[in-house]
Amino acid sequence: MPCLLEMTDIRKEFPGVVALDGVDFQVEAGEVHALLGENGAGKSTLIKILAGLYTPDSGEIIFHGERLTGMTPQKVLARGIGFIHQERVHIPYFTVGQMLFLGHEPRKSNGLIDWQRLYEEADAALASTLGAHIDSRLPMQHLSVSEMQLVDITKILMTEPSLIVFDEPTASLSEEEVERLFAVIRNLKERGVTVIYVSHRLDEIFKICDRATVLKDGKRVGTVDVKKSSPDQIVTMMVGRKLEEQFPKVETKIGKPVLEVTNLTRGNAVRDVSFTVREGEILGVYGLVGAGRTETMRLVFGADPKDAGTIRVDGREVDIKSPGDAVRAGVALVPEDRRGQGVLVDMSVRENTTLASLKSFSSRGFLKLGFEGSAVAGFIKRLAIRTPSSSQLVRYLSGGNQQKVVLAKWMASKARVFIFDQPTIGVDVGAKAEIYRLMGDLAAEGAAVVLVSSEIPEIRGLSDRVLVMYKGRISAELSRDEATAEKLLFYAMGGGAVDA
Ligand SMILES: Nc1ncnc2c1ncn2[C@@H]1O[C@H](COP(=O)(O)OP(=O)(O)OP(=O)(O)O)[C@@H](O)[C@H]1O
Ligand SMILES: [Mg+2]
Repeated sequence: MPCLLEMTDIRKEFPGVVALDGVDFQVEAGEVHALLGENGAGKSTLIKILAGLYTPDSGEIIFHGERLTGMTPQKVLARGIGFIHQERVHIPYFTVGQMLFLGHEPRKSNGLIDWQRLYEEADAALASTLGAHIDSRLPMQHLSVSEMQLVDITKILMTEPSLIVFDEPTASLSEEEVERLFAVIRNLKERGVTVIYVSHRLDEIFKICDRATVLKDGKRVGTVDVKKSSPDQIVTMMVGRKLEEQFPKVETKIGKPVLEVTNLTRGNAVRDVSFTVREGEILGVYGLVGAGRTETMRLVFGADPKDAGTIRVDGREVDIKSPGDAVRAGVALVPEDRRGQGVLVDMSVRENTTLASLKSFSSRGFLKLGFEGSAVAGFIKRLAIRTPSSSQLVRYLSGGNQQKVVLAKWMASKARVFIFDQPTIGVDVGAKAEIYRLMGDLAAEGAAVVLVSSEIPEIRGLSDRVLVMYKGRISAELSRDEATAEKLLFYAMGGGAVDA
């Protein structure tokens, strides 16, 4: 097989961090090549160098036998390399069609944009690439995260690239959408398109990748043939040691109810939802994307106003109208969209984990929450947050390390109820196990823990009890033993439900 892309001896240093330290990376024409490594290993930096977003300090890039120098994102695109980056940028008030045709809109003979043709072609492109049912006349801001991503992918496919790079494309997709994406990738491969694929989900690597290159601390550990490797082998390459138990279930004593939610309702998104979480208990909440899980938790946290329903904490009814009220009532929420809602990217790691929370929630001298700096430092260590110092701005941390900052901030709080919405998205395997262990510790200390997740192994591995949601309602409540993958999927897809 000829090499389509050869990156040789790539080096990139940021103040205080050597992100890439002489990395060689070779991709053969027609393969799906995984790029793996822990949070902060250098994956996105390597991809941004290829994309012309960063200039390497040294090193050489050869694509289709030609040396690429002085690259800009436009030039790279023109050479036939397309990117789905980890952090994506949209123009919120643009329609989907405008976004897709930005800069090359179809025009009428008088030079004006031919809107009808634009939207027809946009609809056709969306349907053909992913079978996505998205109205191209909708503004981007009305789309869900996964729909926005489908638009991005469609836009890239329209340029007919010979190499496509996906940097953690499935982090915000439902299982069904992931399957659809895989179908697209397999189809691309059949058409001879080469793919570079970054993900922390090993099962995905084994499903669609041919070879995998592992980075660690800015260096290449090695490249393996996926079919000839085991997940254990790859994890060992990534973390440099064998991983212990992936789902450590901490034994706890389950006590009295801590969080009692009754008849919670908001429009059609959340319909008459009631549940209880007890001391020492981890309650899993499973469902497909859009089932109403995130919406329910946002109501409990006061992030959105509810139409009806009551919330009790430790037996006392609490009036939660804002996140501040929730925190004072002892409720903490680690949001799903952590970059959007969870961190202040222009503040340092230290400020994000301590000052920000102190100021916003205890300024009126109410309950002192005790986000303790020293506790946070402990979490930073346990979660292995890769940062040159605690004064580094969060903006400059890798995607997964930004996630960990938000987790550390909330885990260090003295809440009674901890709600985690998809806590391990974008987090590497080693840190995942540590997050699970920390959640177990919180429960063991007597807190009530809610785990919202789309990953069945995670739900099954950690929950004492599982709620399944479908179309804004609770469609099933299952005990730890009852919660098999089949049952979870059955109820998540509306099995046994009466549609209203
Ligand atoms: N613009 C920047 N300024 C300063 N440091 C940076 C910058 N971009 C990346 N880094 C640092 O370089 C290292 C590699 O980051 P990179 O984003 O490539 O990691 P990654 O492998 O993509 O991790 P993740 O899995 O978390 O996305 C990290 O330590 C990160 O903090
Ligand atoms: Mg990254």
